[in-house]
Amino acid sequence: MSTLSHRALALQESAIRKLDATVVAQQGVHFHRLNIGQPDVPTPAPLLDALASFRPTVLGYGPSSGTAACREAAAGYFSRWSPGLRPADIAITQGGSEALSFALAVICDSGDDVLVPEPYYTNYNGFATLAGASVRPIPTTLKNGFALPPDDELDALVGPRTRALLFSNPGNPTGAVYGREDLARVVAWARRRGLWVIADEVYRQIWFDSAPTSVMELDGEQDHVIVVDSLSKTWSACGVRLGFLISQHADFMERVERLGQARLGPQPLAQAAAVAALHMPESYYVEVRGLYRRRVHGLYDAVAAIPGVRTHRPEGAFYLMAELPVDDADAFARWLVTDHRDQGESVVVAPGEGFYANPSAGKREVRLAAVLDEAYLVRAAAVLASGLKAYAAR
Ligand SMILES: Cc1ncc(COP(=O)(O)O)c(C=O)c1O
Repeated sequence: MSTLSHRALALQESAIRKLDATVVAQQGVHFHRLNIGQPDVPTPAPLLDALASFRPTVLGYGPSSGTAACREAAAGYFSRWSPGLRPADIAITQGGSEALSFALAVICDSGDDVLVPEPYYTNYNGFATLAGASVRPIPTTLKNGFALPPDDELDALVGPRTRALLFSNPGNPTGAVYGREDLARVVAWARRRGLWVIADEVYRQIWFDSAPTSVMELDGEQDHVIVVDSLSKTWSACGVRLGFLISQHADFMERVERLGQARLGPQPLAQAAAVAALHMPESYYVEVRGLYRRRVHGLYDAVAAIPGVRTHRPEGAFYLMAELPVDDADAFARWLVTDHRDQGESVVVAPGEGFYANPSAGKREVRLAAVLDEAYLVRAAAVLASGLKAYAAR
């Protein structure tokens, strides 16, 4: 009989998308969909113009690590954090997702593992699984603002097959931004332990109090750091599937190029949009930050005011984790979709446990994505509040 691989069988259902089919099956309900990090913010006109004016005679393959124009534009943009960064230090990928998959495939052997502060972006599980590796969680909690543990606690978590430390900064789903000191400490710790650092910085431009430090800015660390970025969030272009994989480690980049050759090249069309994106003026990023600051703080204020709810004020990205006064947030999230109606409206949230590797963690938590206008977010929080009340009274 034909069988499936252990790797395929280990693939987890996405905690973010698992309620989608149930949502589609409901009739006549307006759902505030806060489960998926798909912003409703219009894609900037220069990107759309670049797509519209892309008229090659032949829609051909491009170079494996990206077109020269795109890599040069990327080197110019990322030089803000790493002066002198060269196009050769950047590979263009099909989304940040492919950049993460490539990074893990290049550094992990089958049976290796990767340290990841939990809660974490759930798709790290899938990328690790595809590379034959697994996630080894570093526990962090809502109570202490998802702070990274001290070095001795990190030491205790390293296993014989641990290859890397992977995190997103600003964090999805936590909204946490690591301070420069803490970041420098853990990156130096990883170096001492012989570990790669994969910093997923796809939310780098979305911060509210102070700009996050990029690992690219840390002196003396560039021989073991790898950075991932993407057009998806900063430029609201999730559908164009364009990402960046950055490292100054020449051997690493050479192997990334070979992986790139195996899948041929990233889409030239998307790279034309990327060139336009990377040339946006600084004022664009200020605007994006302002927009998300209003949304995230509006959502935070509304959610934090719900009786019995505990949450962390996000410092960046556009998510917040909230601990709810329920025993099983997964069951509650499903019940919201199937049963709770508040003036014909309901709300879709991502159950928190899927963001943890530890099976007993996050049971009372949900992740909310501030992907709608502030007024809708405040209304969604009210629907969540009425849901909690009705759930308790069942
Ligand atoms: C932390 C993080 N990394 C990577 C990605 C993947 O982004 P892309 O659309 O570039 O594949 C996401 C998407 O939500 C994300 O939240």
